[in-house]
Amino acid sequence: MLQTLLTALTLISCVSGENPAVQLVLTNKGLQYVRHIGAGWVQEKLDLITFPDISGKIGFIKYTLSGVRITQCDFPEPSVEFNPNNTGLTMSLSGLSVAVNGSWASRVGLISDGGTFDMAVFKVDVTSVLEFGKHPSGHLSVTSVSCGANIQSVDVRFYGGASWIFKPFVRFFKKYIRAGIQGNICPYLEESVAGLEQYLQAMNVTYDVNPAVSLELPLSVSPGVDSESMNFGLKGEFLSLETHKDPPFVARPFSLPKQSNYMLLMGLSEFTVNSASFAYYSAGHLQANINDSMIPPYFPFRLNTSSMGQYVPQLPKLFPGLLMTLQIYAGEMPLFSFEPDSVKLGMSAAIKAFAVQPNATLTPLFKLNVDSQFSGKVWIDNEKLKSSVMMDNFTLSLASSEVGPFKTDALEGLAKIGMKAVVKTINEKLGQGFDLPRMKGAQLVNSVLKVEKGFVALTSDAQLQSTY
Ligand SMILES: *[C@@H]1O[C@H](CO)[C@@H](O)[C@H](O)[C@H]1NC(C)=O
Ligand SMILES: *[C@@H]1O[C@H](CO)[C@@H](O)[C@H](O)[C@H]1NC(C)=O
Ligand SMILES: *[C@@H]1O[C@H](CO)[C@@H](O)[C@H](O)[C@H]1NC(C)=O
Ligand SMILES: *[C@@H]1O[C@H](CO)[C@@H](O)[C@H](O)[C@H]1NC(C)=O
Ligand SMILES: *[C@@H]1O[C@H](CO)[C@@H](O)[C@H](O)[C@H]1NC(C)=O
Ligand SMILES: *[C@@H]1O[C@H](CO)[C@@H](O)[C@H](O)[C@H]1NC(C)=O
Ligand SMILES: *[C@@H]1O[C@H](CO)[C@@H](O)[C@H](O)[C@H]1NC(C)=O
Repeated sequence: MLQTLLTALTLISCVSGENPAVQLVLTNKGLQYVRHIGAGWVQEKLDLITFPDISGKIGFIKYTLSGVRITQCDFPEPSVEFNPNNTGLTMSLSGLSVAVNGSWASRVGLISDGGTFDMAVFKVDVTSVLEFGKHPSGHLSVTSVSCGANIQSVDVRFYGGASWIFKPFVRFFKKYIRAGIQGNICPYLEESVAGLEQYLQAMNVTYDVNPAVSLELPLSVSPGVDSESMNFGLKGEFLSLETHKDPPFVARPFSLPKQSNYMLLMGLSEFTVNSASFAYYSAGHLQANINDSMIPPYFPFRLNTSSMGQYVPQLPKLFPGLLMTLQIYAGEMPLFSFEPDSVKLGMSAAIKAFAVQPNATLTPLFKLNVDSQFSGKVWIDNEKLKSSVMMDNFTLSLASSEVGPFKTDALEGLAKIGMKAVVKTINEKLGQGFDLPRMKGAQLVNSVLKVEKGFVALTSDAQLQSTY
């Protein structure tokens, strides 16, 4: 049955292109939350801004404005919207007003003078359009498509010293400062966007999970934007670091259900889990040896040819009193399938039994095939990922024997008892749950996880720390 499923998956892989196996969706609720946190962050930073000294010359007067600090700032929350026309965002800020003060110093020939000044910049409007895309390397790209800035007016007053000298120049100053600030806003924004772009290019799109496998997370399609959300489709493939072999099947397309009352939606295709399974299987990691010392003492069964008499009657006669060892390995890759509200796992393994001779030589005894099916539930409780597993089916059959034929019913019964004990232990672990992944300064809250046909969907809100 597994073989058939695998063949079906392989066939599907021939007819479709590269579908993302991981999808991340930022909803408008999420975007507005980020905007709100971002605005608070900017507001905090404004108090700490220091401006460089401004020096210049008006006619024969040299002047310097120094120690410029913001004394008051009316910072309206900017607006941010998804912009489907540019596959990006439109951000605008309107009606920002700032008051600053500082010291002025002037020099005419050998005569120095100085005092203080107040300046107010009224009604700054800024509109910026960002476009998101995908580099051939799979990195997210961001570019500034357009930017406009306008300042309605500027007011400057000079105090102290012979400040009357400046009176005739105030009009000039206003124009000069207005043009100076207005002309600097967009280049400053564009520089920030270029910085963000550089940061994105430097980001890893492949993560080494452990020495055996890596997780490939480049964008597999360009980001998609509509008026309510932005969608990122990532490759989501585990790759063996030893074989570097892609699995012989690809991700099937899936679409996340629309959900506007959560900030984030995430979808993970069963492809991702199966690519991990394939990576471990193809590199030969899905095998284990079992010997008698690994069987708990209370278990009513020893890996010893003498105590195997009730299962394989000829064994104690042919090889009396010897310890045994079992080699277990996956006959085919374990295959996961996601069904509504349940995860199914089919496993097919082979078990080779050996007698351990006193001189440590292994004498082959017989080989068994084991087919088993499990189903599991996955859910989120108290911000922890929890799950449980059930064994649905377990069959054991004799594949070959060096000691002659024997009935496997009794052995199958024994193995089932053993598997049930294993499943119970696993469930105790799973029941404690795992913490949801956390990033620096960010945390998922109100998360709901649902297994759908072919993928698992996580809908969640997030909590960002505004200061980090
Ligand atoms: C997108 O383009 C259409 C048609 O050109 C225009 O009506 C609409 O306002 C634009 N939307 C945005 C968000 O710019
Ligand atoms: C600017 O204003 C602050 C607070 O209003 C005041 O403490 C400071 O002395 C002023 N600086 C100058 C140079 O006038
Ligand atoms: C990116 O990956 C490389 C190699 O795996 C690693 O050395 C580096 O630290 C990673 N960089 C980041 C920012 O995670
Ligand atoms: C059983 O296996 C364990 C782990 O592989 C090994 O440390 C131990 O020596 C083995 N015992 C025997 C009796 O072979
Ligand atoms: C296997 O079991 C028999 C009988 O229970 C015992 O006499 C023998 O010592 C055991 N063999 C080993 C190697 O432990
Ligand atoms: C180990 O013992 C077995 C059985 O007594 C024998 O057939 C085999 O030749 C021995 N192997 C070695 C390497 O001595
Ligand atoms: C269990 O597996 C056997 C053999 O593969 C199959 O005939 C049987 O229908 C399966 N039972 C269930 C409940 O899936």
